[in-house]
Amino acid sequence: MKPKKWSVYITRRILDPAIPMISKECSVIVANHRGRPPTRDELLKAVRDKDAILCTLSDMIDAKVMDAAGSNLKVISSYSTGTDHIDIKEATKRGIYVTFTGDILTEATADLAFALILATSRQITQGHELVTSKRWKYGWDPHLLLGSDVHGMTLGIVGLGRIGSAVARRAKGFDMDIIYHNLHTRNIQMEEQFGAKHVDMNQLVEESDFLSLHCSLNSESYYLINESNLRRMKNDSYIINTARGQLINEAHLIKALKQRWIAGAGLDVFEKEPPSPNSSLLKMKNVVLLPHIGSATFLTRTKMAEVAAKNLLNVLNRKTAIYLVNPEVNPR
Ligand code: DGY
Repeated sequence: MKPKKWSVYITRRILDPAIPMISKECSVIVANHRGRPPTRDELLKAVRDKDAILCTLSDMIDAKVMDAAGSNLKVISSYSTGTDHIDIKEATKRGIYVTFTGDILTEATADLAFALILATSRQITQGHELVTSKRWKYGWDPHLLLGSDVHGMTLGIVGLGRIGSAVARRAKGFDMDIIYHNLHTRNIQMEEQFGAKHVDMNQLVEESDFLSLHCSLNSESYYLINESNLRRMKNDSYIINTARGQLINEAHLIKALKQRWIAGAGLDVFEKEPPSPNSSLLKMKNVVLLPHIGSATFLTRTKMAEVAAKNLLNVLNRKTAIYLVNPEVNPR
């Protein structure tokens, strides 16, 4: 058999068809650590002399990893839409393409954000727990698990981009008013089509009944939500985060939830994942916590796998990637 032209390291066993697709053209090593991501040392060793790395958001791909890979490295294909785990500047400087899964997970993530809006306000998990723990004693009860309305309320969106807009479309079906804050450009299309109103950050937190985060994580958005704006939120409002944990100062959020500055939080992402077993969040009643599953549907993860593989193969074959983070790169 002819030796394959390129050598690829894949940091997790991701869904088909990625691995068979890549294996047709490349010699592939798939990390095998019983479901966990590679440690830093394992990663640094495994990338050596690779032409391409297919990584996930659990792998920090910085200059050290690029050094360890060496001068063959041409492309870092991330099996994710967020790319805050990759040093894009460094990759670009070195002539390495960085690719991502673009808008493939938009609708699935918006579905989950809406599930958290409903779950937090209507006490879905508390209700489930009451029934399954057999503590539901007297049938229908006039006071049992009274929650907040969702229909007709105000949804505040930080980051009305792809996912934020998909959440706003769902909210319109619930007759909600949409206000939003974008850090840079306004979304005129959503303003015209859905009556979304652009407001400053203070007004956004003050007027939202549900505040849902959909911006990417970078130095500007790190700890965007902190004590000062949590204190401005309504006491009966909820915060929903399906984007990145570091958008919220988690210690401040815990304080806000304990002291009831806000009514609750629906979180699919955390500052540290998984959160520490001692985190107060794990003991709170006014939260719904999920293990970073925004994109976790069979269809979405399968499409993400296909796109991540195509991105990687396209770059190696000198074709255009489907979703490229750094089009300005001068390839090696
Ligand atoms: C992403 O891709 O950025 C999501 O957070 C996980 O799929």
